[in-house]
Amino acid sequence: VKITFIEHSGAEHEVDAKEGLTLMEVAVKAGVPGIDADCGGACACATCHVYVDEGFTSKTGEPSPMEESMLDFASERQDNSRLSCQIGVKSDLEGMRVKIPEFQG
Ligand code: FES
Repeated sequence: VKITFIEHSGAEHEVDAKEGLTLMEVAVKAGVPGIDADCGGACACATCHVYVDEGFTSKTGEPSPMEESMLDFASERQDNSRLSCQIGVKSDLEGMRVKIPEFQG
């Protein structure tokens, strides 16, 4: 599944993401900078904050109540803010573009 991560600087990283992993795991494995993931994917840190391509927000689903409350700790939250450790890679995310905020936490 091809997913493109875009750094705040505009640098793009196209990654071939395996289904079953989370977006956070994919980005960390690929060495994409800007995703700290301090809690290791437990939905407890908000340092894996990303902005999901508007056209894909219906495919990634809605944040869980727990994710919602963590997102309040993310800086520069927007309507399309998500925690990347809470999004599972699946085939219908093919071609998705994900922006990484300037700062985490
Ligand atoms: Fe900590 Fe996602 S890695 S909330």
